[in-house]
Amino acid sequence: MEEKIKALLAEVESFSSQDTKEIETFRIRLLSRKGLIPALFDEFKQLEGDDKRKYGKPLNELKQKAQGKIEELKAGADGSGQHQANRFDLTRPAPGQFPGTRHPVNLVKNEIIDIFKRIGFNVSEGPEIEDDWHNFTALNFPEEHPARDMQDTFFVARNPEWALRTHTSSVQVRAMEANKPPIRTISPGRVFRNEAISARSHCIFHQVEGLYIDKKVSFADLKQTLLYFAREFFGADTKIRLRPSYFPFTEPSAEMDVYWGLKDEVDYRMTKGTGWLEVMGCGMVDPNVLENCGLNPEEYSGYAFGMGVERIAMQRYQISDIRYLFENDIRFLQQFQSAL
Ligand code: PHE
Repeated sequence: MEEKIKALLAEVESFSSQDTKEIETFRIRLLSRKGLIPALFDEFKQLEGDDKRKYGKPLNELKQKAQGKIEELKAGADGSGQHQANRFDLTRPAPGQFPGTRHPVNLVKNEIIDIFKRIGFNVSEGPEIEDDWHNFTALNFPEEHPARDMQDTFFVARNPEWALRTHTSSVQVRAMEANKPPIRTISPGRVFRNEAISARSHCIFHQVEGLYIDKKVSFADLKQTLLYFAREFFGADTKIRLRPSYFPFTEPSAEMDVYWGLKDEVDYRMTKGTGWLEVMGCGMVDPNVLENCGLNPEEYSGYAFGMGVERIAMQRYQISDIRYLFENDIRFLQQFQSAL
């Protein structure tokens, strides 16, 4: 008995491991129901008198040492050691993960781009700092003409020939200068206007403008394209209407509205009581513009349209103040579709 206790004690003292499996094997060998230590206890039960008194204490000490050692090693071991289990509540649900979301302006912009790509439009981009020619003159804004006041402009202080573009129609001028018809392109991008910031307007916003130039393009083509867009974006039963309007670069010009309905108070507010939402400006490209861009208006005609992305995003997501779209408040942004 004495020998066996000594031998096991030595084994307990010398054993060391950081491997959870090894420690467990050791525990089973010594302490499980059929292990060496319980076997010694069985032997101990057979003893009598003095022997029983002599070995009781050392046997208990051996058992405690073995248990202590195993606890200690488990605590230091990798994986799911006892130590870790005490420090962390492994049953607690993991906190939510926020992998980032797409900005509502980008969601809407990408959707608009996709819709036009499906009918053969490509995407053109251009500079945000523009010269007077591309932003105004080529687009039939006569110099000193009050039409330029329609779009209050930020000029570049160092060079008043340059301005931040007030619309992406400037990109369409570049597209016409650089390509031969047929031209079928949309120009998404950021534009800038010197306007007081309020719930409804901002000095920076995004547009998607479109341009189609070819032989014999008619107003009917424009109407059908806009109807297609409205039905893809707002739903299959969407109704549109075109109201006469004015832009220097289109003739005739129109404003396209989409029928929204007047079911509740929100509809009244959004449509100013008319039931119709203003969605975009459009028209047939003015012959002067074609000529300015090197195209013969006798040979070619075309249509153009342009819409504000923020306005449409606000309608789609019922956002009451345009400033939310620029503040990057995480509580606001997290409500939109995940970027993954
Ligand atoms: N450029 C116009 C704007 O900024 C929109 C527009 C584009 C209107 C093309 C007609 C044709 O408001």
